[in-house]
Amino acid sequence: MVNYVNFDEELRKRRDSVNDIIERYLPKEDAVPGKLAEAMNYSIRIGGKRIRPILMMESYRMFGGHKTVVEPFMAAIEMIHTHSLVHDDLPAIDNDELRRGRRTTHAVFGEAIGILAGDALLNYAYETALQAFRHTEDVQRVAGALQILSSETGLYGMLGGQSVDVQNDKNGVSALSKEELDYIYLHKTGSLLEAPLMIGATLAGAGKGEIGCMKEIGRRIGLAFQIQDDILDVTATTEELGKPVGSDTKNDKTTYVTLMGVDRARETVEEQTAVAVRLLESMPGEKEFLRELLVHMASRSK
Ligand code: IPE
Ligand code: IPE
Ligand code: MG
Ligand code: MG
Ligand code: MG
Repeated sequence: MVNYVNFDEELRKRRDSVNDIIERYLPKEDAVPGKLAEAMNYSIRIGGKRIRPILMMESYRMFGGHKTVVEPFMAAIEMIHTHSLVHDDLPAIDNDELRRGRRTTHAVFGEAIGILAGDALLNYAYETALQAFRHTEDVQRVAGALQILSSETGLYGMLGGQSVDVQNDKNGVSALSKEELDYIYLHKTGSLLEAPLMIGATLAGAGKGEIGCMKEIGRRIGLAFQIQDDILDVTATTEELGKPVGSDTKNDKTTYVTLMGVDRARETVEEQTAVAVRLLESMPGEKEFLRELLVHMASRSK
């Protein structure tokens, strides 16, 4: 299915350009409270695949966007994603000490600063996204994008999913059903993959139906992405992943792998990705790279 020539090289270029954009929006460390800014910057700069900002940029371009208004939102989605990782790794949640190949933020800066850095990244994401108003006269589109960003992140989005996920561990009474697991995946992971696709489309002026279709694509790849994450938790190495393998087993999690085994979980990743690719084909514009990215995400090894 992969036929984009030099896909890896193209992906690397896009990641570099995302990193340049993010860097421009990071807080300064020289003023008080420098320690907090340092912890925020540490968690972002240690790396990551930058998939969410790349998805946003691709969706924006696909619907004809070509301005800088998308850039503060690209930085913001990565800040929110990083906030979710910093808090996910805390002792009270997954209790992990390795992330993106380095010690987790709480392990380096202490738990208190870990909690505050996660909070501050979440808030700074909105401070950053609000800067989009300076880039455009089209206030309506920016307001629409902010609405998506906030709802996909909050109670009915990523945070809602994480809150149900913390009941899915050794403290939980019994193993979860597939329906309960789907709710968790579609929210803790799906929401932050829906958001960039919808925001890119919104900022470029796509219609309601098109934004709805991008949401559905995000939902499918979100489910697939989390199932692939479960698979890698049992099949990859810590060196490859840059985070501890076996985290789900350690926390006694029900996952797609424990529910149906690695092979069936892999098939589900492929099925969901195929649906997402079909939906993408129905959208207008140049989507070659985005299509390859969806396929790449399904077969990723980290
Ligand atoms: C990790 O996300 C958390 C999940 C939603 C599974 P990524 O796999 O995108 O992590 P980074 O940003 O590349 O570190
Ligand atoms: C990730 O779930 C969801 C969020 C961080 C929002 P996991 O707990 O499986 O993610 P990793 O494996 O620690 O990256
Ligand atoms: Mg977790
Ligand atoms: Mg975790
Ligand atoms: Mg995981």
